[in-house]
Amino acid sequence: MKSDTHADLKVRNLTLLSESELGTLATLEVTNWQEIKGGSFKESLDAWQSGPSEQILGLGFLLKNNPVGMTLFKRPPLSPSWACANAATIHGLKISLPLQGRRLGHSAFELAVGQLKKEWPEIATLMLAVDADNASALAVYRGFGMIDSGPVFEGPDGAEHRFEISFLP
Ligand SMILES: CC(C)(COP(=O)(O)OP(=O)(O)OC[C@H]1O[C@@H](n2cnc3c(N)ncnc32)[C@H](O)[C@@H]1OP(=O)(O)O)[C@@H](O)C(=O)NCCC(=O)NCCS
Repeated sequence: MKSDTHADLKVRNLTLLSESELGTLATLEVTNWQEIKGGSFKESLDAWQSGPSEQILGLGFLLKNNPVGMTLFKRPPLSPSWACANAATIHGLKISLPLQGRRLGHSAFELAVGQLKKEWPEIATLMLAVDADNASALAVYRGFGMIDSGPVFEGPDGAEHRFEISFLP
């Protein structure tokens, strides 16, 4: 995998992954600290499988056909209470631990937003919450040009930022 670059990353709706690919995704790991921040791969897959399909969109990221990450989007009424009615929220963006730090997080987020627009074209805004001490996630969202509230909200794990970006022209 050493010669792979973030440019090779692909996104796919989780409904299109094979049982074996979903099984691989469930075995991927992040650190214990990161599990607190964004859940484990297994927890995110369980949330996707148990959620109403029209309100939760699961995406997998593949590098040379190998699953290496995932994320979820939610929309009302499943979204958190702070999200606007016409917004989707992103949850638990994750890259497998051995592959972190190679710009895959940046690429995955870009791919996920592109796929969100295709899958749920009526969504006008993307919103998210992230803990103030989650430096790598903050870098991904800021790098994309999302509007940052700053660490002004009190979340379940302390100060959190909320980010949003409009898809309207
Ligand atoms: C957030 C996450 C997806 C980023 O994935 P990644 O592949 O490591 O990200 P990238 O390599 O694209 O790097 C993103 C930025 O984080 C920085 N970074 C990576 N590891 C870091 C660390 N341990 N501390 C501080 N910054 C770090 C990189 O330098 C880069 O910053 P830059 O754009 O200013 O150069 C990954 O850390 C992850 O899976 N986290 C666990 C789940 C999570 O917290 N998700 C977010 C929930 S809101």
